[in-house]
Amino acid sequence: MRTSVFDDIGVESSVRETLVADDYGSVEISNMDDVPLSSDESEGLSSYTITPTSTEPADKIDRAYDATTEKGKLEGLFRTSMTAIRSSHHEARAIRTALILLGLFTDKILYRDWTTVFYYINNELEIKMQCPEFEASLQDEKEIKILNKLQKLGDTYYFNNLYEKDLYFLYGVSLPCQLKKKVETCLQDKPGARKFRDHIRKMTTASELSGALFCLWGVFIVGGGAMARQRAIRMVGEKGVNVYQNVSGPGREMRKRDFINLWDGLAEAGSSQFKSIENSSDECMKLMNASIKDMSANPWWLKHVCITMTVLVVLAAIIWEKL
Ligand code: HEM
Repeated sequence: MRTSVFDDIGVESSVRETLVADDYGSVEISNMDDVPLSSDESEGLSSYTITPTSTEPADKIDRAYDATTEKGKLEGLFRTSMTAIRSSHHEARAIRTALILLGLFTDKILYRDWTTVFYYINNELEIKMQCPEFEASLQDEKEIKILNKLQKLGDTYYFNNLYEKDLYFLYGVSLPCQLKKKVETCLQDKPGARKFRDHIRKMTTASELSGALFCLWGVFIVGGGAMARQRAIRMVGEKGVNVYQNVSGPGREMRKRDFINLWDGLAEAGSSQFKSIENSSDECMKLMNASIKDMSANPWWLKHVCITMTVLVVLAAIIWEKL
């Protein structure tokens, strides 16, 4: 079984290793008003320019989203899962835009928090995928087959170790116990992420797990996540972007196609597994949104702004008194 630097927030555990993510951004927004995608990034996208907030071409993003959706089989699982998360995907983009205004693409701390949150959630997914006890607990042959297909996908993609590499760098620590502490501290005010992780922890079938994987890995493999690599590099450097290792570079179209084919072959229309994966994708995308919303609720610098404002008001009052 794989291990990660931490098990649970507030709960001591054995050492495990692994983990996740999403899509990040650039450096200076002022310099990024119109960032043309590199040929690598834009492979597979119709030729449009994505701004730092990705708000301007929202309709084009929707079209790209729908075009990808249509690459799945008619009435197949990929199309169905994409349709299930479509409205939540709108919301995800809106939350990301809000986070950009708060500094997602300019503030290394926010970027690090984002990475930490996805690491924390994905960790649970990947540990479960590789847990022999979980596999042994599956009674239904169809569920075992689904799990085996997810594991095969993991041979190419498992993100956990890559996330950990990034986080060691981003936090400037070198020991698992140090990283564990950093992650715990970060997650203290992230109830959404803790809820998502607990949700995965309670999953008892491979179909349910598939919904979590669809959201946590799909964002990189078929979504816009990998496109943020260049922007992330400009902000944190090469050492902070290992998570993109297997989802960027040439071959994006092939990676997308393979993922779509695998998804369409995961469960047959009309089966209980099919319905369960659809429902789980929907639910997980909502939990993913709640997780990223946490980061806009209390930006780390808010207390400094409040203190500064208070000091300024007090000073102004004192000066006013003396006039
Ligand atoms: C936190 C979750 C997510 C956020 C914040 C998000 C945000 C975005 C954004 C901003 C774009 C525009 C491209 C860019 O600016 O980089 C995009 C495109 C897209 N996303 Fe997502 N997304 C999320 C999850 C997902 C998931 C789970 C999927 C599918 C499994 C997905 C599928 C797509 C697709 C197909 C596109 C169109 C681009 C393309 O075809 O390559 N996204 N997303």
